[in-house]
Amino acid sequence: MIHRLGIVGAGLMGSGIAEVAARNGVDVIVVEADDTAARAGLARITKSLDRGVRSGKLTEEARADALGRIDVTTSFDKLTNRELVVEAVIEDEATKLDVFRRLDAVVEDPTAVLASNTSSIPIMKLAMATQRPEQVVGIHFFNPVPVMPLVEVVTSLMTNPKVEQQAHEFAGGQLSKHVIKSKDRAGFIVNALLIPYLLSAIRMFESGFATAEDIDTGMVDGCAHPMGPLALTDLIGLDTTMAVAQSLYEEFKEPLYAPPPLLSRMCEAGLLGRKVGRGFYQYN
Ligand code: 3HC
Repeated sequence: MIHRLGIVGAGLMGSGIAEVAARNGVDVIVVEADDTAARAGLARITKSLDRGVRSGKLTEEARADALGRIDVTTSFDKLTNRELVVEAVIEDEATKLDVFRRLDAVVEDPTAVLASNTSSIPIMKLAMATQRPEQVVGIHFFNPVPVMPLVEVVTSLMTNPKVEQQAHEFAGGQLSKHVIKSKDRAGFIVNALLIPYLLSAIRMFESGFATAEDIDTGMVDGCAHPMGPLALTDLIGLDTTMAVAQSLYEEFKEPLYAPPPLLSRMCEAGLLGRKVGRGFYQYN
Protein backbone atom coordinates (compact mmCIF):
# COMPACT_ATOMS: atom_id res chain seq x y z
CA MET A 1 0.00 0.00 0.00
CA ILE A 2 1.44 3.38 -1.04
CA HIS A 3 0.78 6.24 1.40
CA ARG A 4 3.39 8.75 0.25
CA LEU A 5 3.52 9.40 -3.51
CA GLY A 6 5.85 11.75 -5.35
CA ILE A 7 5.28 13.00 -8.89
CA VAL A 8 7.81 14.87 -10.99
CA GLY A 9 6.02 17.16 -13.44
CA ALA A 10 2.62 18.84 -13.06
CA GLY A 11 1.72 18.91 -16.74
CA LEU A 12 -1.34 17.22 -18.25
CA MET A 13 -0.30 13.76 -17.05
CA GLY A 14 1.38 14.61 -13.74
CA SER A 15 -1.56 16.73 -12.56
CA GLY A 16 -4.02 14.01 -13.60
CA ILE A 17 -2.08 11.33 -11.71
CA ALA A 18 -1.88 13.59 -8.64
CA GLU A 19 -5.63 14.18 -8.74
CA VAL A 20 -6.54 10.51 -9.05
CA ALA A 21 -4.13 9.47 -6.29
CA ALA A 22 -5.31 12.19 -3.91
CA ARG A 23 -8.94 11.30 -4.57
CA ASN A 24 -8.03 7.80 -3.46
CA GLY A 25 -6.54 8.92 -0.14
CA VAL A 26 -2.85 9.07 -1.11
CA ASP A 27 -0.62 11.90 0.16
CA VAL A 28 0.98 13.50 -2.93
CA ILE A 29 3.95 15.80 -3.45
CA VAL A 30 4.25 17.11 -7.00
CA VAL A 31 7.51 18.76 -8.04
CA GLU A 32 7.70 21.33 -10.83
CA ALA A 33 10.65 23.24 -12.23
CA ASP A 34 9.47 26.76 -11.37
CA ASP A 35 6.69 28.71 -9.64
CA THR A 36 4.78 29.44 -12.84
CA ALA A 37 4.61 25.75 -13.79
CA ALA A 38 3.69 24.80 -10.21
CA ARG A 39 0.85 27.35 -10.16
CA ALA A 40 -0.41 26.13 -13.55
CA GLY A 41 -0.33 22.51 -12.32
CA LEU A 42 -2.32 23.31 -9.19
CA ALA A 43 -4.82 25.31 -11.26
CA ARG A 44 -5.24 22.32 -13.61
CA ILE A 45 -5.91 19.97 -10.69
CA THR A 46 -8.36 22.40 -9.07
CA LYS A 47 -10.23 22.90 -12.36
CA SER A 48 -10.59 19.15 -12.87
CA LEU A 49 -11.80 18.61 -9.27
CA ASP A 50 -14.31 21.45 -9.74
CA ARG A 51 -15.54 19.68 -12.86
CA GLY A 52 -16.01 16.55 -10.75
CA VAL A 53 -18.14 18.50 -8.25
CA ARG A 54 -20.21 20.11 -11.03
CA SER A 55 -20.92 16.73 -12.63
CA GLY A 56 -21.99 15.29 -9.24
CA LYS A 57 -19.13 12.73 -9.13
CA LEU A 58 -17.43 14.42 -6.19
CA THR A 59 -18.76 16.11 -3.05
CA GLU A 60 -17.41 19.50 -1.92
CA GLU A 61 -15.87 17.72 1.05
CA ALA A 62 -14.11 15.10 -1.12
CA ARG A 63 -12.80 17.90 -3.34
CA ALA A 64 -11.37 19.75 -0.32
CA ASP A 65 -9.87 16.53 1.10
CA ALA A 66 -8.19 15.71 -2.21
CA LEU A 67 -6.75 19.22 -2.55
CA GLY A 68 -5.54 19.02 1.07
CA ARG A 69 -3.51 15.91 0.22
CA ILE A 70 -1.64 17.57 -2.68
CA ASP A 71 1.46 19.72 -2.23
CA VAL A 72 2.74 21.25 -5.48
CA THR A 73 6.27 22.49 -4.89
CA THR A 74 9.49 23.47 -6.66
CA SER A 75 11.63 21.69 -4.06
CA PHE A 76 12.90 18.36 -5.43
CA ASP A 77 14.34 17.49 -1.98
CA LYS A 78 10.80 17.08 -0.62
CA LEU A 79 10.70 13.71 -2.43
CA THR A 80 13.17 12.24 0.04
CA ASN A 81 10.64 10.18 2.07
CA ARG A 82 8.43 8.98 -0.81
CA GLU A 83 7.51 5.28 -1.16
CA LEU A 84 6.76 5.66 -4.87
CA VAL A 85 7.72 8.43 -7.28
CA VAL A 86 6.19 8.70 -10.75
CA GLU A 87 8.21 10.71 -13.25
CA ALA A 88 5.86 12.57 -15.63
CA VAL A 89 8.03 15.22 -17.31
CA ILE A 90 8.12 15.94 -21.06
CA GLU A 91 8.74 13.02 -23.42
CA ASP A 92 12.43 13.79 -23.84
CA GLU A 93 15.02 11.16 -23.03
CA ALA A 94 17.73 13.50 -21.70
CA THR A 95 15.25 15.28 -19.41
CA LYS A 96 13.90 11.98 -18.07
CA LEU A 97 17.41 10.55 -17.52
CA ASP A 98 18.27 13.64 -15.50
CA VAL A 99 15.15 13.18 -13.35
CA PHE A 100 16.07 9.55 -12.64
CA ARG A 101 19.63 10.54 -11.68
CA ARG A 102 18.22 13.11 -9.26
CA LEU A 103 15.63 10.71 -7.84
CA ASP A 104 18.38 8.16 -7.19
CA ALA A 105 20.25 10.78 -5.19
CA VAL A 106 17.26 12.15 -3.27
CA VAL A 107 14.86 9.27 -2.47
CA GLU A 108 16.22 7.75 0.75
CA ASP A 109 14.49 4.36 1.02
CA PRO A 110 16.37 1.89 -1.24
CA THR A 111 13.15 -0.14 -1.55
CA ALA A 112 11.11 2.85 -2.84
CA VAL A 113 9.65 2.35 -6.31
CA LEU A 114 10.87 4.73 -9.03
CA ALA A 115 8.37 4.77 -11.90
CA SER A 116 8.12 6.50 -15.25
CA ASN A 117 4.95 7.54 -17.02
CA THR A 118 6.89 7.59 -20.31
CA SER A 119 4.78 6.91 -23.41
CA SER A 120 7.55 5.23 -25.33
CA ILE A 121 11.08 5.38 -23.93
CA PRO A 122 12.36 1.93 -22.91
CA ILE A 123 12.34 1.59 -19.11
CA MET A 124 15.77 -0.07 -19.19
CA LYS A 125 17.37 3.16 -20.44
CA LEU A 126 15.85 5.15 -17.55
CA ALA A 127 16.65 2.45 -14.98
CA MET A 128 20.34 2.52 -15.91
CA ALA A 129 20.52 6.20 -14.94
CA THR A 130 20.14 5.00 -11.33
CA GLN A 131 22.19 2.77 -9.04
CA ARG A 132 19.02 0.73 -8.35
CA PRO A 133 17.65 -0.42 -11.73
CA GLU A 134 15.70 -3.24 -10.05
CA GLN A 135 13.51 -0.57 -8.38
CA VAL A 136 12.52 1.09 -11.69
CA VAL A 137 9.27 0.27 -13.52
CA GLY A 138 6.93 1.86 -16.07
CA ILE A 139 3.48 2.97 -14.87
CA HIS A 140 1.89 4.48 -17.97
CA PHE A 141 -1.41 6.40 -17.62
CA PHE A 142 -3.69 7.71 -20.37
CA ASN A 143 -5.02 11.20 -21.00
CA PRO A 144 -7.31 12.45 -19.43
CA VAL A 145 -6.05 10.46 -16.43
CA PRO A 146 -9.22 10.93 -14.31
CA VAL A 147 -11.32 9.51 -17.15
CA MET A 148 -9.28 6.81 -18.88
CA PRO A 149 -9.45 3.48 -17.03
CA LEU A 150 -6.19 1.98 -18.37
CA VAL A 151 -2.66 1.76 -16.98
CA GLU A 152 0.22 -0.13 -18.61
CA VAL A 153 2.75 -1.62 -16.21
CA VAL A 154 6.08 -2.10 -17.94
CA THR A 155 8.95 -4.13 -16.51
CA SER A 156 12.52 -3.94 -17.74
CA LEU A 157 14.95 -6.86 -17.81
CA MET A 158 16.10 -5.73 -14.34
CA THR A 159 12.80 -4.91 -12.57
CA ASN A 160 12.36 -6.76 -9.28
CA PRO A 161 9.11 -8.85 -9.40
CA LYS A 162 8.13 -7.29 -6.05
CA VAL A 163 8.32 -3.83 -7.65
CA GLU A 164 6.12 -5.01 -10.52
CA GLN A 165 3.62 -6.29 -7.96
CA GLN A 166 3.69 -2.96 -6.05
CA ALA A 167 3.08 -1.05 -9.31
CA HIS A 168 0.22 -3.39 -10.14
CA GLU A 169 -1.37 -3.04 -6.69
CA PHE A 170 -1.02 0.73 -6.71
CA ALA A 171 -2.58 1.28 -10.16
CA GLY A 172 -5.05 -1.60 -10.13
CA GLY A 173 -5.91 -1.68 -6.42
CA GLN A 174 -5.53 1.78 -4.91
CA LEU A 175 -6.44 3.74 -8.07
CA SER A 176 -8.88 1.13 -9.46
CA LYS A 177 -7.42 1.28 -12.98
CA HIS A 178 -7.42 -1.65 -15.41
CA VAL A 179 -3.83 -2.84 -15.59
CA ILE A 180 -2.23 -4.48 -18.60
CA LYS A 181 1.35 -5.75 -18.63
CA SER A 182 3.79 -4.92 -21.37
CA LYS A 183 7.34 -5.96 -22.18
CA ASP A 184 9.87 -3.18 -22.45
CA ARG A 185 9.65 -2.20 -26.13
CA ALA A 186 9.28 1.40 -27.36
CA GLY A 187 5.58 2.34 -27.33
CA PHE A 188 4.62 -0.64 -25.16
CA ILE A 189 1.20 -2.01 -26.22
CA VAL A 190 -1.09 0.96 -26.77
CA ASN A 191 1.19 3.52 -28.41
CA ALA A 192 2.76 0.88 -30.68
CA LEU A 193 -0.75 0.48 -32.13
CA LEU A 194 -2.13 4.01 -31.71
CA ILE A 195 0.73 6.10 -33.11
CA PRO A 196 0.82 4.52 -36.62
CA TYR A 197 -2.95 5.16 -36.82
CA LEU A 198 -2.56 8.84 -35.83
CA LEU A 199 0.36 9.27 -38.26
CA SER A 200 -1.72 7.72 -41.08
CA ALA A 201 -4.48 10.23 -40.42
CA ILE A 202 -1.96 13.10 -40.52
CA ARG A 203 -0.55 11.76 -43.83
CA MET A 204 -4.08 11.49 -45.22
CA PHE A 205 -4.81 15.11 -44.26
CA GLU A 206 -1.39 16.27 -45.49
CA SER A 207 -1.95 14.72 -48.93
CA GLY A 208 -5.21 16.66 -49.37
CA PHE A 209 -7.15 13.40 -49.53
CA ALA A 210 -9.85 14.65 -47.12
CA THR A 211 -10.51 17.49 -44.67
CA ALA A 212 -9.60 17.17 -40.99
CA GLU A 213 -13.29 17.26 -40.09
CA ASP A 214 -14.17 14.46 -42.52
CA ILE A 215 -11.29 12.26 -41.40
CA ASP A 216 -12.38 12.65 -37.76
CA THR A 217 -16.09 12.25 -38.50
CA GLY A 218 -15.25 9.10 -40.43
CA MET A 219 -13.73 7.45 -37.37
CA VAL A 220 -16.27 8.82 -34.87
CA ASP A 221 -19.40 7.99 -36.83
CA GLY A 222 -18.02 5.08 -38.82
CA CYS A 223 -16.10 3.24 -36.12
CA ALA A 224 -17.63 4.60 -32.87
CA HIS A 225 -14.36 6.08 -31.61
CA PRO A 226 -14.98 8.77 -28.94
CA MET A 227 -12.96 11.25 -30.99
CA GLY A 228 -11.27 11.28 -34.40
CA PRO A 229 -7.50 10.83 -34.85
CA LEU A 230 -6.68 14.50 -35.52
CA ALA A 231 -8.71 15.70 -32.51
CA LEU A 232 -7.01 12.99 -30.45
CA THR A 233 -3.56 14.15 -31.62
CA ASP A 234 -4.55 17.66 -30.50
CA LEU A 235 -5.56 16.24 -27.10
CA ILE A 236 -2.35 14.22 -26.65
CA GLY A 237 -0.22 17.15 -27.90
CA LEU A 238 1.61 17.21 -31.22
CA ASP A 239 4.97 17.44 -29.46
CA THR A 240 4.25 14.29 -27.43
CA THR A 241 2.94 12.48 -30.53
CA MET A 242 6.12 13.50 -32.37
CA ALA A 243 8.37 12.34 -29.51
CA VAL A 244 6.61 8.97 -29.26
CA ALA A 245 6.83 8.48 -33.05
CA GLN A 246 10.55 9.26 -32.93
CA SER A 247 11.16 6.71 -30.15
CA LEU A 248 9.22 4.07 -32.08
CA TYR A 249 11.08 4.87 -35.29
CA GLU A 250 14.43 4.76 -33.53
CA GLU A 251 13.59 1.36 -32.03
CA PHE A 252 12.02 -0.41 -35.02
CA LYS A 253 13.14 1.58 -38.12
CA GLU A 254 9.72 0.93 -39.68
CA PRO A 255 8.37 3.64 -42.08
CA LEU A 256 4.94 3.47 -40.41
CA TYR A 257 6.46 5.10 -37.31
CA ALA A 258 8.25 7.91 -39.23
CA PRO A 259 6.77 11.34 -38.37
CA PRO A 260 5.18 12.96 -41.46
CA PRO A 261 6.64 16.36 -42.48
CA LEU A 262 3.40 18.18 -41.57
CA LEU A 263 3.70 16.98 -37.95
CA SER A 264 7.30 18.24 -37.82
CA ARG A 265 6.34 21.64 -39.28
CA MET A 266 3.42 22.06 -36.87
CA CYS A 267 5.67 21.24 -33.90
CA GLU A 268 8.27 23.73 -35.14
CA ALA A 269 5.47 26.34 -35.44
CA GLY A 270 4.31 25.68 -31.88
CA LEU A 271 0.92 24.42 -33.06
CA LEU A 272 0.91 21.74 -30.38
CA GLY A 273 -2.82 21.15 -30.01
CA ARG A 274 -5.35 21.88 -27.30
CA LYS A 275 -2.85 22.92 -24.66
CA VAL A 276 -1.76 25.95 -26.73
CA GLY A 277 -5.20 26.61 -28.28
CA ARG A 278 -4.29 25.50 -31.83
CA GLY A 279 -3.33 22.27 -33.57
CA PHE A 280 -5.36 20.65 -36.34
CA TYR A 281 -8.25 22.63 -34.86
CA GLN A 282 -8.59 26.02 -33.22
CA TYR A 283 -9.68 26.03 -29.54
CA ASN A 284 -11.13 28.95 -27.50
N1 3HC B 1 -10.67 15.69 -16.30
C1 3HC B 1 -11.69 15.15 -15.61
N2 3HC B 1 -12.82 14.70 -16.20
C2 3HC B 1 -12.93 14.85 -17.53
C3 3HC B 1 -11.90 15.41 -18.32
C4 3HC B 1 -10.74 15.85 -17.64
N3 3HC B 1 -9.69 16.39 -18.30
N4 3HC B 1 -12.28 15.40 -19.60
C5 3HC B 1 -13.51 14.85 -19.63
N5 3HC B 1 -13.90 14.51 -18.39
C6 3HC B 1 -15.14 13.83 -18.00
C7 3HC B 1 -16.29 14.78 -18.01
O1 3HC B 1 -16.49 15.40 -16.73
C8 3HC B 1 -17.44 13.88 -18.37
O2 3HC B 1 -17.91 13.21 -17.21
P1 3HC B 1 -19.50 13.10 -16.95
O3 3HC B 1 -20.03 12.42 -18.18
O4 3HC B 1 -19.61 12.28 -15.71
O5 3HC B 1 -19.94 14.52 -16.80
C9 3HC B 1 -16.83 12.82 -19.28
O6 3HC B 1 -15.43 12.82 -18.99
C10 3HC B 1 -17.08 13.10 -20.72
O7 3HC B 1 -16.57 14.40 -21.00
P2 3HC B 1 -17.27 15.45 -21.99
O8 3HC B 1 -18.75 15.21 -22.05
O9 3HC B 1 -16.77 16.80 -21.67
O10 3HC B 1 -16.62 15.16 -23.38
P3 3HC B 1 -16.65 13.87 -24.24
O11 3HC B 1 -17.83 13.01 -24.00
O12 3HC B 1 -16.36 14.36 -25.59
O13 3HC B 1 -15.37 13.04 -23.71
C11 3HC B 1 -13.09 12.47 -23.67
C12 3HC B 1 -14.09 13.61 -23.68
C13 3HC B 1 -13.18 11.73 -22.35
C14 3HC B 1 -11.71 13.11 -23.80
C15 3HC B 1 -13.43 11.50 -24.86
O14 3HC B 1 -13.52 12.22 -26.05
C16 3HC B 1 -12.40 10.41 -25.02
O15 3HC B 1 -12.41 9.39 -24.34
N6 3HC B 1 -11.47 10.61 -25.99
C17 3HC B 1 -10.41 9.66 -26.26
C18 3HC B 1 -9.28 9.88 -25.30
C19 3HC B 1 -8.14 8.95 -25.55
O16 3HC B 1 -8.11 8.14 -26.47
N7 3HC B 1 -7.11 9.07 -24.71
C20 3HC B 1 -5.90 8.28 -24.83
C21 3HC B 1 -4.86 9.13 -25.47
S1 3HC B 1 -3.36 8.23 -25.70
C22 3HC B 1 -2.49 8.53 -24.30
O17 3HC B 1 -2.87 9.24 -23.42
C23 3HC B 1 -1.17 7.84 -24.22
C24 3HC B 1 -0.02 8.80 -24.26
O18 3HC B 1 1.14 8.06 -23.93
C25 3HC B 1 0.19 9.45 -25.59
